[in-house]
Amino acid sequence: MKRRRQTSTRSSACGLVLATICVALCNCQSLNEAAPPVATAAPHAAAQLEFGRNLYVTKCAKCHAPEPVRKYSVSKWEELIPEMAEETRLTPGETAAVRDYVMAVLAYHGPRG
Ligand code: HEC
Repeated sequence: MKRRRQTSTRSSACGLVLATICVALCNCQSLNEAAPPVATAAPHAAAQLEFGRNLYVTKCAKCHAPEPVRKYSVSKWEELIPEMAEETRLTPGETAAVRDYVMAVLAYHGPRG
C-alpha cells in the first residue's frame, strides 16, 4: 500500500513537471512568435551596418574627408543623406545601408552635443 501511494505521488509529480515544461515551451514559442528574438528578427542587421559603414568610409569620402557622424542630428542627417547619396550616385539599397549605419550610430551614441 505504502509503496503504491509513493509511486502514484511520484508519477503525478512527474506529470506536473512535464506539464510545466510543456506550458513553458508553448509559452516560449508563442512569445518568440509575438516578439521574435533579435538573432532571428534581424540576422542581416550587422552585415547591413557593416555595408553602410564601408560605403561611408569609401564612397562618401571621395570629395571630402568622412564627416564625423555624431556632428549632425537625426533630422539634419535626414536632409543630408538623400542629397549626398545623389552626389555619390548610390543605389537605393546603398543609400538605405548608409542611412541605417548613421542612424544606428546616433541611436546608440547620440549626437555629440
Ligand atoms: C561628389 C562629391 C561628394 C560626395 C561623393 C559626397 N559628398 Fe558630402 N559634401 C559634398 C559637398 C560639396 C559638400 C558641401 C556643400 C553641401 O553641404 O552641399 C558636402 C557636405 C557634406 C556634409 C556636411 C553638410 C553640412 O551641412 O555641414 C556631410 C555630413 C556630408 N557631405 C556627408 C556625405 C555623405 C554621408 C556622403 C556619402 C553618402 C557624401 N557626403 C558624399 C560633396 C560630396
